[in-house]
Amino acid sequence: MNTEEEAILMQQVSDLTEQSVEKTLRPQLLNEYIGQAALKKELRVYIKAAKTRQESLDHVLLYGPPGLGKTTLAMIIANEMEVGLKTTSGPAIEKTGDLLALLNELEPGDILFIDEIHRLPTQVEEMLYSAMEDFFVDIVIGQGPTAHPVHFPLPPFTLIGATTRAGMLSAPLRDRFGIMAHMEYYQAADLKEIVRRTANIFHTSIIENGAYEIALRSRGTPRIANRLFRRVRDFAQVASKEAIDKHIVDEALKILHVDKVGLDIIDVKLLTTMIVQYQGGPVGINTLAANIGEEVETLETMYEPYLMQTGFIQRTARGRIATDLAYRHLGYTQQNMKE
Ligand SMILES: Nc1ncnc2c1ncn2[C@@H]1O[C@H](COP(=O)(O)OP(=O)(O)OP(=O)(O)O)[C@@H](O)[C@H]1O
Ligand SMILES: [Mg+2]
Repeated sequence: MNTEEEAILMQQVSDLTEQSVEKTLRPQLLNEYIGQAALKKELRVYIKAAKTRQESLDHVLLYGPPGLGKTTLAMIIANEMEVGLKTTSGPAIEKTGDLLALLNELEPGDILFIDEIHRLPTQVEEMLYSAMEDFFVDIVIGQGPTAHPVHFPLPPFTLIGATTRAGMLSAPLRDRFGIMAHMEYYQAADLKEIVRRTANIFHTSIIENGAYEIALRSRGTPRIANRLFRRVRDFAQVASKEAIDKHIVDEALKILHVDKVGLDIIDVKLLTTMIVQYQGGPVGINTLAANIGEEVETLETMYEPYLMQTGFIQRTARGRIATDLAYRHLGYTQQNMKE
């Protein structure tokens, strides 16, 4: 095995570990789902009303940055509705036949969860329109002169779509979701609770200031909070610390290159490139991606939203610009000289 293959294998192993850890950490019911208070309140009403009427829940679109709990919430909705859940993703449904096969297996009231719904092929998406609106699909069977349309009724079901890119969804598809759920970055207080919950599941003691420090550095994202927690726990264990406190968090995150506000190596590389090479911008995302060796999509979904939300960069018609805050945070003056 060469080093590149080895690196890919390592990445796959770490992705698998991450996925199985995430499974054990997923809350099962709305009560255990921390934060997103306004959204939870709304969902409780819709779920209760649908159950009282013995109807299927209206279609739900969950959108927001990665790792905020969209998949988790889809599973919780199925649990709360006490219905079956089928899970798939946009890229996995290649043909209309694939979608039909999925729809055909649904029991009345069931939930079909389509992750990355912005990546559905157009024909499949169009088939969803009538399925969502009136619970039927029309398909053409056979070819040439023997071709004939077949009307295919479906049981009432709920489609839950999840996407990190709501802007990439076509208007007709977006309009067919009765419930639009925008996931927000989490407040530090909520992330602290998530870290404490995770510590509890892992039978690890954590002191309040330790949990809070991890929360502050998790970019508003539960997945990152859980990941940082696991790394810090390793450091605590090797240092034979009985409980995780702020001190060990500071030490571990220094080694992991996660700074005081949660920016990692790539965030810092991105901002530094803008400041040093492009005088703070405006600079296009393609140029930036090429400069720092990351995919445009990765920058757009994983990095930019948080940097914008926290005010380190701004988006203008001519490209991205680094703000005063970014200069100050990284210790540059506006003349891009390191202070
Ligand atoms: N509100 C929450 N309370 C507790 N844990 C949470 C919460 N939201 C997310 N998590 C945890 O964070 C991890 C990531 O959540 P999830 O996989 O649902 O995110 P996602 O939005 O579907 O991400 P992606 O966009 O990458 O698919 C999971 O391990 C989950 O248990
Ligand atoms: Mg997901």
